[in-house]
Amino acid sequence: MLVEELILKAQEASKMAYAPYSHFNVGAAILMKDGKVILGANIENASYPLSVCAERCALFSAHMQGYQKEDMVSFALFGDIDNYISPCGACRQVISELYPKDAPIYLANKELKYLKTTIKELLPLAFSEGDLHK
Ligand code: THU
Repeated sequence: MLVEELILKAQEASKMAYAPYSHFNVGAAILMKDGKVILGANIENASYPLSVCAERCALFSAHMQGYQKEDMVSFALFGDIDNYISPCGACRQVISELYPKDAPIYLANKELKYLKTTIKELLPLAFSEGDLHK
């Protein structure tokens, strides 16, 4: 699947966002090795901190559909803004645990232009499972 197609899927996913408070819709699409694409969108709550970002929505959904990080090929994010959408700190931490370190992450803007990065670049020196063992 072309990067552009995955970004279009993320744009489609952003239309599923539930964002009555921020009015800021974000979409995410993860391509799996078997060709399946798992989507996510931000889902907010009147108790604001309970809101979930598009990235975590997609990763948790993938996990619940039986996919592990080894099954994942690429990850696209879409935000309807001039800048390239950039994952928040909490999502970077979750991505670093559930998505491959060197796999591409595409950060797309409203014109569907994108920046290619990795979680290694987005979250250097991440805290990880290995750090729990002294
Ligand atoms: N949001 C995401 O879903 N992903 C991002 O990469 C940035 C921010 C959401 C959280 C909240 O629902 C809204 O966008 C405004 O911050």
